[in-house]
Amino acid sequence: MQQPGLKLEQAPPIAVPFRFFLTAPLFLLAAAALLAWSGAASFDARATPAALAVTHLVTLGYMAMVMLGAMLQILPVLVGTPVPAARAVAGAAHALLVVGAASLAAGFALGQPLATRAAAWTLGGAFAVFLVAVATALTRVAVRSATVLGMTLATAALAITVVLGLELAAMHGWGIAPPSFALRELHPAWGLAGWTGLLVAGVAYQVVPMFQMTPPYPPPLARGFPVAVFVLLAAWSAAAWHGDVPGLEATLAVLLAGGYITFAVTTLVLQIQRRRRIPDATLAFWQIGMASVALASAVWCVRAVRPEAPEALDLLIGVLAIVGGAVSVIAGMLYKIVPFLGWFHLQASVGPKGAPHMKKFLGDSPQQLHVRVHLVAVAALCAAALWPQPLVYVAAAALGASALVQFRNLVLAARFYRAELARAPATGA
Ligand code: HEM
Repeated sequence: MQQPGLKLEQAPPIAVPFRFFLTAPLFLLAAAALLAWSGAASFDARATPAALAVTHLVTLGYMAMVMLGAMLQILPVLVGTPVPAARAVAGAAHALLVVGAASLAAGFALGQPLATRAAAWTLGGAFAVFLVAVATALTRVAVRSATVLGMTLATAALAITVVLGLELAAMHGWGIAPPSFALRELHPAWGLAGWTGLLVAGVAYQVVPMFQMTPPYPPPLARGFPVAVFVLLAAWSAAAWHGDVPGLEATLAVLLAGGYITFAVTTLVLQIQRRRRIPDATLAFWQIGMASVALASAVWCVRAVRPEAPEALDLLIGVLAIVGGAVSVIAGMLYKIVPFLGWFHLQASVGPKGAPHMKKFLGDSPQQLHVRVHLVAVAALCAAALWPQPLVYVAAAALGASALVQFRNLVLAARFYRAELARAPATGA
């Protein structure tokens, strides 16, 4: 993951990303607990208060938590541009995101407008701090690769998601009607197909060929996909907002979903062609993730062209995209990012030869256990989206178990790092 000429001083201290990574599984655990507490009622319809609370414990408490922490590290390490005041930005964004994600979930679950108002202020603050710092770093990038393009468009999509989310929070917290109720469609679409999908794609272009030794992504796809997704999302948003051209919204949704199916299938095919034949947990998580993205997109096509199809399919799309797609890829990436960062910072103390091999940070079997439990959680959640009673309890238990296994694994890796650091002769890491 190291770029030629990268200096350790460009990377923020290791505590910066680790703080985000260790908090994330705890929010997943909270989501599982809330799912168990609210039972089948959470899956009664698409946007029940419990479903909205669980959704944001995962999207903000888990996904945003890891993606924000990782971006503060990826930008200097993978792209070679330091984030200004990384330590202060990380401290503020982390604290505000923890309070904001918890308050928004409480606002939904307990029907408390005051909690929603607190969430709007804290989440607005968290994302404002993060977006200003990252946008500044991105303007200073020297080489505008496909990864940088993906990350720039992902950051823009995140800004749009946040603005739309705050408009919706103003409705829940202060009773202010949004300019259009199409925002209820636009906000999740920009969050999932915009921000999350584009960031995953931007990172995939670098890490899939590097970790699994696959051929590179075809250049037209690597550069064309982020631009096409962004333009299609903008056009689809305009069509959904105005809603006066019959069939246009559905056509654009199908094109957008088709783009994601192409990206996911390309990734799976590249992984089949990999030269590194030894399977690992990261590969398995990417495979679960890409299969889920392709399935979510296919179901979205069905919903777009057949509005009379059961509403439960919307829940299925959400589960596949959020837990099957985003949570899987993020979990897989953490098992590469955490050992890499540990090694990267340790070698400053002991030199590249003295730092332990990355595989030493966490064995394969705890990671494989996580893959298996997570796969059960994804399957159970998909089944519960269609048949909530009694499967929602199985799904909640599996999701909770997956969160606990991940938390334990990350703590083990962090402890190994601390033990190695204590043994190191100097403490520059
Ligand atoms: C500042 C941050 C955010 C705020 C304040 C916020 C707020 C909201 C609100 C108030 C709703 C309820 C809309 C309604 O009444 O129907 C909602 C729905 C939703 N949001 Fe967020 N959100 C934020 C970030 C995100 C992010 C980052 C994602 C995804 C990556 C996301 C995904 C969703 C989803 C999937 C729904 C459910 C839509 C539905 O099925 O009806 N949100 N959000």
